[in-house]
Amino acid sequence: MTERPPHLASPNGGLPSSVLWAQLILKDRLRAGDVAIDATMGNGHDTLFLTQCVAPEGHVFAFDVQEAALIETRKRVPAEMTTLIHAGHETMRAQVPVELHGKISAVMFNLGYLPGTNKALITRTETTMIAVREALDLLKPSGVLTITVYPGHEGGADEGRHIAEWAATLDSRRFEVQHLRPVNRAASPPELWVVWKRG
Ligand SMILES: C[S@@+](CC[C@H](N)C(=O)[O-])C[C@H]1O[C@@H](n2cnc3c(N)ncnc32)[C@H](O)[C@@H]1O
Repeated sequence: MTERPPHLASPNGGLPSSVLWAQLILKDRLRAGDVAIDATMGNGHDTLFLTQCVAPEGHVFAFDVQEAALIETRKRVPAEMTTLIHAGHETMRAQVPVELHGKISAVMFNLGYLPGTNKALITRTETTMIAVREALDLLKPSGVLTITVYPGHEGGADEGRHIAEWAATLDSRRFEVQHLRPVNRAASPPELWVVWKRG
């Protein structure tokens, strides 16, 4: 009898990475017709993932400060389901139509820089902290925020510390917060923060 392979696994059979955990949680919760935000578009893999979760009639707003990210992402994602915004995620509240405030099902952050591109275009603590606060305001009750942090990137450890301090201040009557991270690796592997806005 062949053994059934695990569903919740990285390609090497190990436990899910931070990025995979984020996708598993969001895939489980997003529904057709939902509206989601990709706060860090990059090459558009997460934007595409979100469109697949909310298809066919849902919508995804995606942000990046690099024009190259919009060009790459546009090649990947269905135009009618996406609004690609060439601006920092710290402007999210102003960019997302006001009638959708409080109605967003998920916001996904994948911080740091895009591998193989300009490392100067890295996410920064100050703007990240504005954006995660705005993201919580935009979420609907039962909505989910995921933040993948790269403490090994320049500035990433500082960004992670600020997120940890902020997460600890969130009112437990309004939000549930989890932190998933590998604990026995010498390097600084990516970590995931998940915030659920109580329904
Ligand atoms: C780790 S990459 C994201 C990977 C991406 N989600 C994907 O699927 O390919 C981080 C991205 O954040 C972008 N970024 C940096 N500062 C930003 C900001 N203030 N607002 C939005 N995006 C930003 C970078 O340009 C980079 O493309």
